[in-house]
Amino acid sequence: MRIVLGVGGGIAAYKVASLLRLFTEAGHHVTVIPTEAATRFVGTATWEALSGNPVSNSVFDDVHQVNHVRLGHEADLVVIAPATADLLAKAATGQAGDLLTNTLLMAHGPVLFAPAMHTEMWQHPATRANVETLRGRGAAVLEPASGRLTGSDSGPGRLPEPDAIFDAAMALVHGQTDFQLPLAGKTVTISAGGTREPLDPVRFLGNRSSGKQGVALAVAARNAGATVRLLSAHMEVPPPPGVDVVNVETALQLREAALAAAVDSDVVIMSAAVADFRPADISDTKIKKRDDTADPVITLVRNPDILQELVERRNQGIAGPAAGGQLIVGFAAETGDQHGDVLAYAEAKLQRKGCDLLVVNHVGSDKVFGKDTNSVVILARSGSEPQEASGTKADVSAAIISRIGFELNQVSPRA
Ligand code: CTP
Repeated sequence: MRIVLGVGGGIAAYKVASLLRLFTEAGHHVTVIPTEAATRFVGTATWEALSGNPVSNSVFDDVHQVNHVRLGHEADLVVIAPATADLLAKAATGQAGDLLTNTLLMAHGPVLFAPAMHTEMWQHPATRANVETLRGRGAAVLEPASGRLTGSDSGPGRLPEPDAIFDAAMALVHGQTDFQLPLAGKTVTISAGGTREPLDPVRFLGNRSSGKQGVALAVAARNAGATVRLLSAHMEVPPPPGVDVVNVETALQLREAALAAAVDSDVVIMSAAVADFRPADISDTKIKKRDDTADPVITLVRNPDILQELVERRNQGIAGPAAGGQLIVGFAAETGDQHGDVLAYAEAKLQRKGCDLLVVNHVGSDKVFGKDTNSVVILARSGSEPQEASGTKADVSAAIISRIGFELNQVSPRA
């Protein structure tokens, strides 16, 4: 496929180098056309080296090839990233002052704009009107992600992650009308890994959670356009790029982080393996073995149930974006026994915890901890049919995130 990648003059231009790589690695022929302002952020040499093609933004270069006509005509897809307020305005009003805007006027195929700018600029009526004009003409304009912007400000206006733009571009080319990312503009908090409960300065009670499922969920949510906060307990894998990470150790620390993050989260996913108990006392000094004393006894006390507390707060209207409510997802590891099967136990847990979705791992001889594959059933409190998902943790995460996107688009109130 022939792709024209138009790069606007914004700081997010550096992220577009990764998008370019995704396109070339997928075998596409990419011509990069940076605006004059874009070259102040990332130089022409970078685009030439990464695309393997000459780069210009002048209609007076290679005039004999009539580039301003040819590039637009030949393109199967035009992607503009970052689409600045200036570029959106120029495209909406049909300006043709440089090679990129000329190419946009000549393009026959799908055009995708991935905006990035400060929140005020994105929300300004002039920009809103330009976006509507472009959408009205059939162009696809992604919703920007929310989160930290260039300065100290934050809000909607961040360039969606390169993976997310790539997926949206492919969906658009394949004629899908739902190219809009399912979690665009949403904030998703995900807890991952296993908590550790200290006994003394060197010892702790822990569990075998690797964090792989939580990290895969964070990647899937990020690729679906969400702003992701990863509350990371102990994990054996690194957190993925493009997500905000809060490190925690104990269940109590995770509780504090989760309750704080939940306040303005559209979705909270509790995939962490939280210790149900912690030692009642933490020794300040290393516990010594002594031959003259009895075997030590560790007294445990219960940890708060974070998931249940999140649900209570949501139900009391303390947490979650005021209007749309908040979707809360729990995880459960279940086994069946002579009193009931896995699904019956899971159903009871779903009702007890009051979360909206419960992702159930069937724990048998085939343990899920640390493995790269998983098989789950997603139960919904709304009572809809249980949904099975299996495959790599990435496949399972994609199914869970797509289900979350579906649930968020249902209008029924939660709580
Ligand atoms: N969870 C939590 N706070 C805890 C314990 C668990 O938020 N103190 C969350 C987990 O992150 C997970 C779900 O609750 O989303 C798991 O529920 P839990 O009651 O611990 O069930 P299981 O681990 O499946 O085991 P059991 O029923 O034996 O307690």
